[in-house]
Amino acid sequence: MRFQAAATIGLITSFLSLPAATDRVLRDGSPESVGLLPGPLAQMQMNLSQYTRPANYGSHSYDEVHPILPGGSVIVGHKAAVVSSFAFGNASLYANANGTLLPPNAWVSTKMDTIYDMASLTKVFTAITALRVIDDGKLDLHKPVASYIPEFATNGKGNVTVLMLLTHTSGFPPDPEPGLYDPSYEDMQQRVEAIIQHKLANPPGSTYTYSDLNFMNLRFMLEKITGTPFEDLVHSWTRNLGMTSTFFNKGNIRAESLGYYSRMAPTEYQIEVLGSSEPKRPQPVRGTVHDENAWALNGVSGHAGLFASAGDVAIFVDLMFTNFNGKFPGDEHGVGFELNQSYFSGPMANIQAGGHTGFTGTSLVVDRASDTFMVLLAHAVHPNRTWSSNNIVRQALGYWVARSLGRDFAFPL
Ligand SMILES: *[C@@H]1O[C@H](CO)[C@@H](O)[C@H](O)[C@H]1NC(C)=O
Ligand SMILES: *[C@@H]1O[C@H](CO)[C@@H](O)[C@H](O)[C@H]1NC(C)=O
Ligand SMILES: *[C@@H]1O[C@H](CO)[C@@H](O)[C@H](O)[C@H]1NC(C)=O
Ligand SMILES: *[C@@H]1O[C@H](CO)[C@@H](O)[C@H](O)[C@H]1NC(C)=O
Ligand SMILES: *[C@@H]1O[C@H](CO)[C@@H](O)[C@H](O)[C@H]1NC(C)=O
Ligand SMILES: *[C@@H]1O[C@H](CO)[C@@H](O)[C@H](O)[C@H]1NC(C)=O
Repeated sequence: MRFQAAATIGLITSFLSLPAATDRVLRDGSPESVGLLPGPLAQMQMNLSQYTRPANYGSHSYDEVHPILPGGSVIVGHKAAVVSSFAFGNASLYANANGTLLPPNAWVSTKMDTIYDMASLTKVFTAITALRVIDDGKLDLHKPVASYIPEFATNGKGNVTVLMLLTHTSGFPPDPEPGLYDPSYEDMQQRVEAIIQHKLANPPGSTYTYSDLNFMNLRFMLEKITGTPFEDLVHSWTRNLGMTSTFFNKGNIRAESLGYYSRMAPTEYQIEVLGSSEPKRPQPVRGTVHDENAWALNGVSGHAGLFASAGDVAIFVDLMFTNFNGKFPGDEHGVGFELNQSYFSGPMANIQAGGHTGFTGTSLVVDRASDTFMVLLAHAVHPNRTWSSNNIVRQALGYWVARSLGRDFAFPL
């Protein structure tokens, strides 16, 4: 089925001469084959499909009679096996914002390859892209954003760090004011300046406020550091993973001229719902990004703009801890994590165990295979860094944890 895309990773990446993540390929598998009960998964499919029916779902439908959603696509994976995968309901269904149905011959069922507007799931891809630039040594989470984009320091933002953007603690208000699609902006340069120079609502680090401005600025910062357009930065690793239905619609290319269009689920009758200040484009919104600010940024932003199919997102989720360093045997590394490293994991090392060490003597390991983690904080550099390496303590920790899991190993030498 669609996970054949993952099986072609090796082919695609060898063609492009890029490092492959071939250690783990999603496959279809029965729930029983991976130790799950099939009954609840079958019930789940029936149950989720029911939410396409109009009903009063109480607070979930604001006490009116409506469906919760017209349709969707679901994938559940366990131990690299796809144990449940189904599409339900309809992608295209309504003729207006009041819910007048299209004629039945115009209904389009959802399919597993239906492409959805990912909205803020884009932010996860932006974060991973940032981690890769950190991995390359070109970005430091704790440095001021202004050390990468000097203009960002305006309006008291000199102390906002990269990490604050990633954790929504920069102090930015939720959205740019006015919205980037407001006619007061004359061109793209003014929108970009508005984002980079935007005022804070709270002092840096003082408050958690979920803000699209954080991820809009991350995008500009990553472009500045790498000299590469943001969509290329994201596509450079999503394509590499075989995610061939994951993309930004750069340029807000309309309708049929966008190759993916026939697979894309429509979203909202936005102008009907919110009025004439909304972006002027064919309704319902389809093919171009639902988020008005991302639309005003030509379809590409760090906070929204990505489109993808469920199968592609499944590949991504499955690979978060996956080895990207196939061409560097012994140096297995996922996004931000070293993998399969006995020097700090001891006998707990395996390709599903990711972790990191710190120079002072610290280490952490998360072993997804056994659902175990190990944290060792230490200050082995006290009083003098050249006295020791504490890897033996890290390995001993792994040894005793493995023993407690009933495994038989010799003590690491
Ligand atoms: C889904 O299943 C739950 C648990 O059985 C049930 O309470 C709920 O009403 C079901 N939802 C629908 C839409 O049928
Ligand atoms: C939408 O799709 C489902 C399943 O594909 C179908 O049974 C249903 O009748 C369609 N129409 C509506 C209005 O839900
Ligand atoms: C939708 O319903 C509202 C309220 O009944 C009405 O004012 C409006 O004209 C309707 N719009 C369409 C497009 O039918
Ligand atoms: C940055 O932080 C330092 C130390 O807390 C403070 O003195 C300085 O005023 C801050 N700068 C800005 C631009 O907020
Ligand atoms: C994990 O490390 C061991 C020991 O270095 C090596 O033999 C094995 O191939 C590695 N596994 C993967 C999947 O890279
Ligand atoms: C630190 O330890 C090393 C190894 O024992 C020793 O050679 C060195 O002199 C020490 N440094 C100082 C400043 O004492």
